[in-house]
Amino acid sequence: MARVTGDTDFARFHQGGRDAVRALERTLAVVGRSIESFDSILDFGCGCGRMQLWLEAVGARGGLHATDVDADAIAWAAEHIPYCRFSVNGADPPLPYPDGAFDLIFNQSVFTHLDERRQDAWLTELQRVSRPGGLLVLSVHGEWALGDRWSEAHVRLEDSGHLFLPDMRPAPELGHPPWYAATYHAPWYVFEHWARWFAIRAYVPKAVDAFQDHVLLQHTSEEQRPRPLAARPPRAPRPVAESAPAVVEQIVRSAHAQIGRGPSRFGPLATALRGAVLRLMRPYTVHQATADVALARSVDELARATEAQARRLDALERQD
Ligand SMILES: C[S@@+](CC[C@H](N)C(=O)[O-])C[C@H]1O[C@@H](n2cnc3c(N)ncnc32)[C@H](O)[C@@H]1O
Repeated sequence: MARVTGDTDFARFHQGGRDAVRALERTLAVVGRSIESFDSILDFGCGCGRMQLWLEAVGARGGLHATDVDADAIAWAAEHIPYCRFSVNGADPPLPYPDGAFDLIFNQSVFTHLDERRQDAWLTELQRVSRPGGLLVLSVHGEWALGDRWSEAHVRLEDSGHLFLPDMRPAPELGHPPWYAATYHAPWYVFEHWARWFAIRAYVPKAVDAFQDHVLLQHTSEEQRPRPLAARPPRAPRPVAESAPAVVEQIVRSAHAQIGRGPSRFGPLATALRGAVLRLMRPYTVHQATADVALARSVDELARATEAQARRLDALERQD
Protein backbone atom coordinates (compact mmCIF):
# COMPACT_ATOMS: atom_id res chain seq x y z
CA MET A 1 0.00 0.00 0.00
CA ALA A 2 2.74 2.46 0.98
CA ARG A 3 4.63 1.79 -2.26
CA VAL A 4 1.50 2.34 -4.37
CA THR A 5 0.10 5.52 -2.80
CA GLY A 6 2.53 6.45 -0.01
CA ASP A 7 -0.26 5.81 2.52
CA THR A 8 -0.73 2.92 4.99
CA ASP A 9 -4.28 3.76 6.05
CA PHE A 10 -6.34 0.93 4.51
CA ALA A 11 -9.69 2.77 4.52
CA ARG A 12 -8.17 5.76 2.70
CA PHE A 13 -6.36 3.46 0.27
CA HIS A 14 -9.55 1.50 -0.45
CA GLN A 15 -11.74 4.61 -0.91
CA GLY A 16 -9.02 6.13 -3.10
CA GLY A 17 -9.45 3.16 -5.47
CA ARG A 18 -13.20 3.78 -5.62
CA ASP A 19 -12.64 7.49 -6.31
CA ALA A 20 -10.21 6.64 -9.13
CA VAL A 21 -12.77 4.26 -10.71
CA ARG A 22 -15.48 6.93 -10.45
CA ALA A 23 -13.15 9.46 -12.08
CA LEU A 24 -12.53 6.97 -14.90
CA GLU A 25 -16.31 6.58 -15.37
CA ARG A 26 -16.74 10.37 -15.50
CA THR A 27 -14.05 10.78 -18.15
CA LEU A 28 -15.44 7.95 -20.31
CA ALA A 29 -18.86 9.60 -20.05
CA VAL A 30 -17.44 12.55 -21.99
CA VAL A 31 -17.66 10.33 -25.08
CA GLY A 32 -20.81 8.53 -23.93
CA ARG A 33 -19.10 5.32 -22.77
CA SER A 34 -18.97 3.39 -19.49
CA ILE A 35 -16.45 0.81 -18.26
CA GLU A 36 -19.05 -1.97 -18.75
CA SER A 37 -19.27 -1.15 -22.45
CA PHE A 38 -15.75 -2.53 -23.16
CA ASP A 39 -14.88 -6.19 -23.79
CA SER A 40 -11.20 -6.25 -23.09
CA ILE A 41 -9.68 -3.88 -20.51
CA LEU A 42 -6.12 -3.30 -19.32
CA ASP A 43 -4.95 -1.34 -16.26
CA PHE A 44 -1.32 -0.45 -17.05
CA GLY A 45 0.54 0.14 -13.74
CA CYS A 46 -2.16 -1.29 -11.48
CA GLY A 47 -0.04 -1.50 -8.29
CA CYS A 48 -1.62 -4.09 -5.98
CA GLY A 49 -5.04 -3.82 -7.65
CA ARG A 50 -6.52 -0.84 -5.77
CA MET A 51 -8.89 -0.07 -8.67
CA GLN A 52 -9.60 -3.74 -9.50
CA LEU A 53 -11.08 -4.12 -6.00
CA TRP A 54 -13.96 -1.98 -7.32
CA LEU A 55 -14.30 -3.70 -10.69
CA GLU A 56 -15.61 -7.12 -9.65
CA ALA A 57 -18.74 -6.95 -11.85
CA VAL A 58 -16.65 -6.01 -14.91
CA GLY A 59 -14.05 -8.68 -14.08
CA ALA A 60 -16.67 -11.40 -13.60
CA ARG A 61 -17.54 -11.12 -17.30
CA GLY A 62 -13.91 -11.93 -18.21
CA GLY A 63 -11.63 -9.60 -20.14
CA LEU A 64 -10.19 -7.61 -17.19
CA HIS A 65 -6.37 -7.50 -17.21
CA ALA A 66 -3.84 -5.56 -15.17
CA THR A 67 -0.06 -5.29 -15.17
CA ASP A 68 2.69 -3.62 -13.17
CA VAL A 69 6.46 -3.56 -12.92
CA ASP A 70 6.17 -4.28 -9.16
CA ALA A 71 6.29 -8.08 -8.80
CA ASP A 72 5.39 -8.07 -5.05
CA ALA A 73 2.29 -5.94 -5.63
CA ILE A 74 1.20 -8.22 -8.48
CA ALA A 75 1.75 -11.35 -6.37
CA TRP A 76 -0.61 -9.94 -3.70
CA ALA A 77 -3.21 -8.85 -6.26
CA ALA A 78 -3.15 -12.18 -8.13
CA GLU A 79 -3.77 -14.03 -4.85
CA HIS A 80 -6.64 -11.81 -3.65
CA ILE A 81 -8.43 -10.62 -6.79
CA PRO A 82 -9.43 -13.74 -8.75
CA TYR A 83 -11.62 -12.04 -11.38
CA CYS A 84 -8.70 -10.14 -12.97
CA ARG A 85 -5.73 -11.55 -14.90
CA PHE A 86 -2.51 -9.99 -13.63
CA SER A 87 0.96 -9.93 -15.11
CA VAL A 88 4.36 -8.40 -14.41
CA ASN A 89 6.08 -6.28 -17.04
CA GLY A 90 9.60 -4.82 -17.27
CA ALA A 91 10.60 -1.18 -16.81
CA ASP A 92 10.58 -0.85 -20.59
CA PRO A 93 8.30 -2.47 -23.22
CA PRO A 94 7.12 -4.94 -24.35
CA LEU A 95 3.95 -6.03 -22.58
CA PRO A 96 2.99 -9.71 -22.73
CA TYR A 97 -0.10 -9.13 -24.91
CA PRO A 98 -0.74 -9.46 -28.65
CA ASP A 99 -1.31 -6.47 -30.95
CA GLY A 100 -4.74 -4.84 -30.61
CA ALA A 101 -5.64 -6.86 -27.50
CA PHE A 102 -7.60 -4.15 -25.62
CA ASP A 103 -10.45 -1.80 -26.38
CA LEU A 104 -9.91 0.14 -23.12
CA ILE A 105 -6.57 0.86 -21.46
CA PHE A 106 -6.35 3.04 -18.39
CA ASN A 107 -3.87 3.93 -15.71
CA GLN A 108 -3.82 5.93 -12.54
CA SER A 109 -0.63 7.82 -11.76
CA VAL A 110 1.95 5.99 -13.88
CA PHE A 111 3.00 8.61 -16.46
CA THR A 112 3.32 10.86 -13.40
CA HIS A 113 6.58 9.02 -12.63
CA LEU A 114 8.33 8.41 -15.96
CA ASP A 115 10.97 10.38 -17.82
CA GLU A 116 10.27 11.38 -21.40
CA ARG A 117 12.18 8.54 -23.07
CA ARG A 118 10.27 5.92 -21.07
CA GLN A 119 6.98 7.77 -21.55
CA ASP A 120 7.45 7.72 -25.33
CA ALA A 121 8.42 4.04 -25.34
CA TRP A 122 5.27 3.19 -23.37
CA LEU A 123 3.02 5.32 -25.56
CA THR A 124 4.33 3.33 -28.54
CA GLU A 125 3.65 0.04 -26.73
CA LEU A 126 0.15 1.11 -25.58
CA GLN A 127 -0.59 2.01 -29.18
CA ARG A 128 0.47 -1.52 -30.21
CA VAL A 129 -1.72 -3.33 -27.68
CA SER A 130 -4.78 -1.09 -28.13
CA ARG A 131 -7.41 -1.96 -30.71
CA PRO A 132 -8.15 0.42 -33.60
CA GLY A 133 -10.97 2.64 -32.30
CA GLY A 134 -10.13 1.69 -28.71
CA LEU A 135 -9.93 4.28 -25.93
CA LEU A 136 -7.26 5.07 -23.34
CA VAL A 137 -7.56 7.13 -20.17
CA LEU A 138 -4.16 8.08 -18.74
CA SER A 139 -3.62 10.34 -15.76
CA VAL A 140 -0.99 13.11 -15.55
CA HIS A 141 0.16 15.66 -13.05
CA GLY A 142 -0.96 18.78 -14.90
CA GLU A 143 -0.44 22.40 -13.92
CA TRP A 144 -2.93 22.12 -11.00
CA ALA A 145 -0.79 19.47 -9.32
CA LEU A 146 1.92 22.14 -8.91
CA GLY A 147 -0.41 24.15 -6.67
CA ASP A 148 -2.88 26.99 -7.16
CA ARG A 149 -0.32 29.76 -6.74
CA TRP A 150 1.74 30.61 -9.82
CA SER A 151 5.35 29.64 -9.13
CA GLU A 152 8.74 29.19 -10.73
CA ALA A 153 7.82 25.52 -11.30
CA HIS A 154 4.73 26.59 -13.30
CA VAL A 155 6.96 28.73 -15.53
CA ARG A 156 9.38 25.83 -16.09
CA LEU A 157 6.48 23.48 -16.87
CA GLU A 158 4.88 25.95 -19.27
CA ASP A 159 8.20 26.40 -21.09
CA SER A 160 9.30 22.78 -21.32
CA GLY A 161 5.92 21.01 -21.41
CA HIS A 162 7.32 17.85 -19.75
CA LEU A 163 8.96 18.31 -16.37
CA PHE A 164 10.73 15.25 -14.96
CA LEU A 165 12.09 15.89 -11.46
CA PRO A 166 14.62 13.11 -10.70
CA ASP A 167 15.24 14.50 -7.19
CA MET A 168 11.57 14.10 -6.26
CA ARG A 169 11.85 10.42 -5.51
CA PRO A 170 9.80 8.51 -2.94
CA ALA A 171 11.60 7.48 0.28
CA PRO A 172 14.26 4.82 -0.53
CA GLU A 173 12.81 2.36 2.04
CA LEU A 174 9.65 2.06 -0.10
CA GLY A 175 11.74 0.15 -2.64
CA HIS A 176 10.82 1.90 -5.90
CA PRO A 177 13.13 1.43 -8.89
CA PRO A 178 15.82 4.14 -9.26
CA TRP A 179 14.19 5.65 -12.38
CA TYR A 180 10.85 6.26 -10.58
CA ALA A 181 10.47 9.99 -9.74
CA ALA A 182 7.90 12.77 -10.28
CA THR A 183 6.71 14.05 -13.66
CA TYR A 184 4.45 16.94 -14.65
CA HIS A 185 2.80 17.61 -18.01
CA ALA A 186 1.57 20.89 -19.49
CA PRO A 187 -1.70 20.46 -21.40
CA TRP A 188 -0.19 22.04 -24.57
CA TYR A 189 2.59 19.43 -24.50
CA VAL A 190 0.11 16.55 -24.21
CA PHE A 191 -1.82 17.87 -27.22
CA GLU A 192 1.35 18.46 -29.22
CA HIS A 193 3.42 15.40 -28.27
CA TRP A 194 0.98 12.60 -27.49
CA ALA A 195 -0.92 13.28 -30.73
CA ARG A 196 1.95 11.44 -32.45
CA TRP A 197 0.46 8.19 -31.15
CA PHE A 198 -3.22 8.84 -30.50
CA ALA A 199 -6.11 11.16 -31.27
CA ILE A 200 -6.77 13.27 -28.19
CA ARG A 201 -10.49 13.17 -27.45
CA ALA A 202 -10.49 15.13 -24.16
CA TYR A 203 -8.25 16.67 -21.54
CA VAL A 204 -9.99 16.78 -18.15
CA PRO A 205 -8.23 19.00 -15.60
CA LYS A 206 -8.40 17.91 -11.94
CA ALA A 207 -10.23 14.72 -12.95
CA VAL A 208 -9.00 12.61 -10.02
CA ASP A 209 -9.32 13.93 -6.48
CA ALA A 210 -9.15 17.48 -7.90
CA PHE A 211 -5.43 16.78 -8.36
CA GLN A 212 -4.42 14.68 -11.37
CA ASP A 213 -5.72 15.39 -14.87
CA HIS A 214 -7.11 12.78 -17.28
CA VAL A 215 -6.16 12.49 -20.93
CA LEU A 216 -8.73 10.62 -23.03
CA LEU A 217 -7.11 9.15 -26.14
CA GLN A 218 -8.29 7.08 -29.06
CA HIS A 219 -6.36 4.67 -31.24
CA THR A 220 -7.09 5.85 -34.78
CA SER A 221 -5.45 5.34 -38.13
CA GLU A 222 -2.78 7.92 -38.93
CA GLU A 223 -5.04 9.56 -41.52
CA GLN A 224 -7.88 10.01 -39.02
CA ARG A 225 -5.58 11.44 -36.37
CA PRO A 226 -5.38 15.24 -36.18
CA ARG A 227 -1.80 16.20 -37.02
CA PRO A 228 0.30 17.35 -34.05
CA LEU A 229 0.47 21.13 -33.81
CA ALA A 230 4.19 21.12 -34.62
CA ALA A 231 3.48 19.50 -37.99
CA ARG A 232 1.05 22.24 -39.00
CA PRO A 233 2.18 25.03 -41.32
CA PRO A 234 3.69 27.99 -39.45
CA ARG A 235 1.09 30.54 -38.45
CA ALA A 236 1.07 34.06 -39.87
CA PRO A 237 2.08 36.79 -37.39
CA ARG A 238 -0.86 38.16 -35.43
CA PRO A 239 -0.86 41.97 -35.73
CA VAL A 240 -4.46 41.94 -34.48
CA ALA A 241 -3.38 40.60 -31.09
CA GLU A 242 -0.81 43.41 -30.69
CA SER A 243 -3.23 46.17 -31.65
CA ALA A 244 -6.37 44.80 -29.95
CA PRO A 245 -6.03 46.89 -26.78
CA ALA A 246 -5.66 50.09 -28.79
CA VAL A 247 -8.74 49.22 -30.85
CA VAL A 248 -10.78 48.47 -27.71
CA GLU A 249 -9.70 51.71 -26.09
CA GLN A 250 -10.62 53.69 -29.19
CA ILE A 251 -14.11 52.13 -29.31
CA VAL A 252 -14.68 52.86 -25.63
CA ARG A 253 -13.47 56.47 -25.96
CA SER A 254 -15.60 57.24 -29.01
CA ALA A 255 -18.68 55.69 -27.32
CA HIS A 256 -18.14 58.03 -24.36
CA ALA A 257 -17.65 61.02 -26.64
CA GLN A 258 -20.99 60.31 -28.30
CA ILE A 259 -23.02 60.64 -25.11
CA GLY A 260 -25.20 63.76 -25.21
CA ARG A 261 -24.01 64.76 -28.71
CA GLY A 262 -26.82 63.24 -30.80
CA PRO A 263 -28.98 65.53 -33.02
CA SER A 264 -31.68 67.30 -31.08
CA ARG A 265 -34.90 65.73 -32.36
CA PHE A 266 -37.30 67.12 -29.76
CA GLY A 267 -36.41 70.77 -29.30
CA PRO A 268 -34.73 72.67 -26.41
CA LEU A 269 -36.83 71.04 -23.65
CA ALA A 270 -35.78 67.56 -24.69
CA THR A 271 -32.16 68.70 -24.83
CA ALA A 272 -32.43 70.14 -21.30
CA LEU A 273 -34.04 66.90 -20.05
CA ARG A 274 -31.32 64.82 -21.69
CA GLY A 275 -28.70 67.02 -19.99
CA ALA A 276 -30.41 66.45 -16.60
CA VAL A 277 -30.53 62.69 -17.14
CA LEU A 278 -26.85 62.65 -18.08
CA ARG A 279 -25.98 64.62 -14.91
CA LEU A 280 -27.92 62.10 -12.85
CA MET A 281 -26.15 59.23 -14.61
CA ARG A 282 -22.70 60.72 -14.10
CA PRO A 283 -21.74 58.47 -11.16
CA TYR A 284 -22.70 55.48 -13.27
CA THR A 285 -20.70 56.63 -16.29
CA VAL A 286 -17.64 57.26 -14.10
CA HIS A 287 -17.79 53.68 -12.83
CA GLN A 288 -18.41 52.44 -16.32
CA ALA A 289 -15.33 54.26 -17.55
CA THR A 290 -13.22 52.62 -14.82
CA ALA A 291 -14.61 49.21 -15.75
CA ASP A 292 -13.92 49.89 -19.44
CA VAL A 293 -10.30 50.80 -18.76
CA ALA A 294 -9.89 47.63 -16.66
CA LEU A 295 -11.40 45.62 -19.51
CA ALA A 296 -9.02 47.20 -22.02
CA ARG A 297 -6.06 46.36 -19.73
CA SER A 298 -7.21 42.74 -19.40
CA VAL A 299 -7.44 42.44 -23.17
CA ASP A 300 -3.91 43.85 -23.31
CA GLU A 301 -2.65 41.20 -20.85
CA LEU A 302 -4.42 38.42 -22.73
CA ALA A 303 -2.98 39.56 -26.05
CA ARG A 304 0.54 39.57 -24.62
CA ALA A 305 0.09 36.05 -23.15
CA THR A 306 -1.32 34.76 -26.45
CA GLU A 307 1.57 36.26 -28.37
CA ALA A 308 4.15 34.78 -25.97
CA GLN A 309 2.57 31.33 -26.30
CA ALA A 310 2.47 31.69 -30.10
CA ARG A 311 6.17 32.60 -30.13
CA ARG A 312 6.92 29.52 -28.00
CA LEU A 313 4.99 27.26 -30.36
CA ASP A 314 6.70 28.82 -33.38
CA ALA A 315 10.09 28.15 -31.75
CA LEU A 316 9.06 24.51 -31.15
CA GLU A 317 7.98 24.15 -34.74
CA ARG A 318 11.30 25.54 -35.90
CA GLN A 319 13.12 23.00 -33.62
CA ASP A 320 11.25 20.12 -35.26
C1 LIG B 1 1.30 5.72 -7.76
S1 LIG B 1 1.29 4.04 -8.13
C2 LIG B 1 -0.40 3.82 -8.65
C3 LIG B 1 -0.84 2.38 -8.69
C4 LIG B 1 -2.27 2.15 -9.15
N1 LIG B 1 -2.48 2.65 -10.48
C5 LIG B 1 -3.24 2.76 -8.18
O1 LIG B 1 -3.81 3.81 -8.49
O2 LIG B 1 -3.43 2.21 -7.11
C6 LIG B 1 2.21 3.96 -9.63
C7 LIG B 1 2.35 2.56 -10.16
O3 LIG B 1 2.95 2.60 -11.45
C8 LIG B 1 3.76 1.47 -11.56
N2 LIG B 1 4.70 1.66 -12.66
C9 LIG B 1 5.64 2.61 -12.80
N3 LIG B 1 6.34 2.42 -13.92
C10 LIG B 1 5.79 1.36 -14.54
C11 LIG B 1 6.09 0.66 -15.75
N4 LIG B 1 7.10 1.03 -16.53
N5 LIG B 1 5.35 -0.41 -16.06
C12 LIG B 1 4.33 -0.79 -15.26
N6 LIG B 1 4.01 -0.20 -14.09
C13 LIG B 1 4.74 0.87 -13.74
C14 LIG B 1 4.42 1.40 -10.20
O4 LIG B 1 5.02 0.15 -9.94
C15 LIG B 1 3.25 1.70 -9.29
O5 LIG B 1 2.55 0.53 -8.91
